[in-house]
Amino acid sequence: MVRAVVHASELLTGAGFRARDGRRPTDEDCGKVADGALVYETRRAKVPYRGSIEVPGAVLWAGPTSRMPREYRRAKAHDLGKRHALVPGLVDCHTHLVFAGDRSEEFAERCAGATYEEIAAKGGGIVRTVDATRAMKEVDLLRIACARVEAAMALGVRTIEVKSGYGLDEKTELKCLKVVRKLREHFPGVEFQATFLGAHAFPKNVERGAYLSQLVDRMLPEVARLKLAEACDVFVDRGYYTREEGAAILRRARDLGLAVKIHADELANTESAALAAELGCLSADHLLKISEAGVRALAASDTTAVLLPGTAFYLKAPHAPARKLIDAGARVALATDFNPGSSMINHLPAILTMGALYLGMSRAELLCAVTYNGARALGMHGRVGTLEPGMRALHWVVPFERFEDSYYRFAWTPVSTRP
Ligand code: NIG
Ligand code: FE
Repeated sequence: MVRAVVHASELLTGAGFRARDGRRPTDEDCGKVADGALVYETRRAKVPYRGSIEVPGAVLWAGPTSRMPREYRRAKAHDLGKRHALVPGLVDCHTHLVFAGDRSEEFAERCAGATYEEIAAKGGGIVRTVDATRAMKEVDLLRIACARVEAAMALGVRTIEVKSGYGLDEKTELKCLKVVRKLREHFPGVEFQATFLGAHAFPKNVERGAYLSQLVDRMLPEVARLKLAEACDVFVDRGYYTREEGAAILRRARDLGLAVKIHADELANTESAALAAELGCLSADHLLKISEAGVRALAASDTTAVLLPGTAFYLKAPHAPARKLIDAGARVALATDFNPGSSMINHLPAILTMGALYLGMSRAELLCAVTYNGARALGMHGRVGTLEPGMRALHWVVPFERFEDSYYRFAWTPVSTRP
């Protein structure tokens, strides 16, 4: 089928972002079309319990409604009446959305002054969520994850990266990655990237060296064999994995055909951003404590800097130096880091508000950060991130007239969008 969306108050195709390689994006690169239209193909996809649904295929044409080519004028059209902006579906390129339980008691402790690292040192933090996630059946994890994906979709997200990392044993890591595989079946209108993060922390009661061998010799080969993940991530930080351990794990992952990325320079500077550049990582994420040398290394590399201002907000930590990174020529993406410890925030537009206020990012930089650059951070920019002909037509009809209303109105919900 051919479908059209017509009379968007503004269509932002993001067409100029690619030519700039996502670096220092400007207003012109947003590809703004007033009274815009989008024409695209659809296909039917089977969904468990719901029969089949129509999902977007390739973009056929984008431009002013008045210039829509004749052959598309008979396509079934959704008329936005110039009341809604139309933009590429947002990309949340860093989430941990498969987890059980919550850490609300720790949140209360942090509100009373305890730090994230103090809580982890006394046996809390990631390993608490690990206990809850190990105890939950795959079907229940899936149910929770589906609700989280639906919530993200209602806020414009059409591409989501999902990490494992709350299993820290082979069985549970695989269980969580299988949940992501099922999410793909449940949401054929969403693109997913599954990332293996077995190196998120060290499990209790397992010797460090033994766990490292398990990761490299058993879990990674199994994940690759079963094709359960496209990428591998390591939390290289003070109190977690060292640079050397991280490099060994990621080299093995690369050899097995996985893309690589690093949770870098979050709690302390370990020069892990530079390590990410050196290893040819898709992305270096967090970067709250990145050094000048790290900024230069990323700017000179093809590695995308993924900033997660929700985490700085939630941990009451100073924000990442977004301006420095952008001005130096690094490619910057923004994501939620949705997780129960350091960013219980599944709201990408709210992250944009933080980007605008605390990272000093412009409208074009923000749009690029959650579309083209988010797709770059996943290596999926050949398929999603802009509304150019040939790209998958994952799009977002913004419930406001202009894209910027989606972050000017902080943390809006789909049922309370007006006035
Ligand atoms: O991205 N930095 C490591 N991992 C998460 C936190 C996970 C947790 O606290 O549960 C993060 O911030
Ligand atoms: Fe994270």
